[in-house]
Amino acid sequence: MENKFGMFIHWGFYSLLGVQEQVLARNDMKNEEYEQYMHQFNPVDYDPEEWVLLAKKAGMKYICFTAKHHDGFCMWDTKYTPYNIMNTPYKKDVLRMLADACEKHGMLLSLYYSNPDWHHENAYNSLSTHQWKSRCPEKADSVKYREFVKNQITELLTGYGKIYTLFWDIPPRYEDKSLNELARKLMPGILINNRGYDQGDFATPERNVPDGSRFPAMTEACESVGEQSWGYRSNEDYFSARFLMKSIDKIMAMGGSYLLNIGPMPSGKLPEEGVRLIEKIGDWYQRMEGNLENHEADPFPYRIAGADAFIASRKNNKTYLHFYQGISSSAINFFSIPGAPRAVRLLNDGRALPVRFEKLPAYFDMGVARGPFYSITHIPADEFPLEPMVIEITW
Ligand code: GLC
Repeated sequence: MENKFGMFIHWGFYSLLGVQEQVLARNDMKNEEYEQYMHQFNPVDYDPEEWVLLAKKAGMKYICFTAKHHDGFCMWDTKYTPYNIMNTPYKKDVLRMLADACEKHGMLLSLYYSNPDWHHENAYNSLSTHQWKSRCPEKADSVKYREFVKNQITELLTGYGKIYTLFWDIPPRYEDKSLNELARKLMPGILINNRGYDQGDFATPERNVPDGSRFPAMTEACESVGEQSWGYRSNEDYFSARFLMKSIDKIMAMGGSYLLNIGPMPSGKLPEEGVRLIEKIGDWYQRMEGNLENHEADPFPYRIAGADAFIASRKNNKTYLHFYQGISSSAINFFSIPGAPRAVRLLNDGRALPVRFEKLPAYFDMGVARGPFYSITHIPADEFPLEPMVIEITW
């Protein structure tokens, strides 16, 4: 996936309860009681340009929006169910407004669509997880339900301009290639995740930074600024910027994309703490000068003294060493390096770093053979205690 950094947005009238996007199930509410909240949803402060500009400022290239979450409520003007945004006091197509703002600012738009649907009477799927609040398991009818899904996907992929990726959620656990075929027919070039009715195009590790140094296939990892919820939560526990930047750097170094979520409040405003985090992460990300994007694996078996974990990636004639947990000293010593670097920079602040060649070293051997080595020196390790550090070597 060409675009590496995106904003995930979980928004629905569930934000009114300030608990979690699955509050209906988590708090074991009655569907009837929960569904009444739609009549209170009136996000008068909603200004999608604010969201788009925040994403842009952070260096994000796309926004993935929850068109329909598990509760089945639709955030666009759909003609296939009255359970949608047009029948709230707000009465405006929030997806249309977001699509327009994205178009205006050159931001790509992706859509999230939940397969579980706790409102549609035919949606119950005994093979799948997340069926807790399905209304009428006795009326389960996957053929009818898939017709409904196809109709809605058609609306979404024909009425809102270019859609970059389709994020199905919760695999139905049976195959029906016709859904993704339809999506591709309607939106040539769309990328589809692997949580739908077939394998799709890309994998979706969630709230997890996998081991290893390279993803075997196209991958988009997702994580939220909040630890407890994807939707707005009034007493959210937020991750540290340090933790999130570390995950972002590692996922990108492994060749993946990263979708960072925030849950807007019922007013339409983004929660301040989440905004602050995205700005902080964005500040670091922008200092990477877009250099975390579109890297290939660097196949060279670098051997570095010391215990700092890193992943090497490559773009053109440059190697990037991602020290995603930071660097623990002012020098990195290589026992094995392809040749003499022409230039070395620390992307965190752009400074040039000197390189030294030592013929008679062997002061430390750290279990590695003694011999001549290259050192990249004068690394200001303590100046960036919270950030992953990325070193660019030009060959
Ligand atoms: C999980 C959750 C869902 C959330 C999604 C984001 O599947 O069930 O609430 O939307 O993760 O990837």
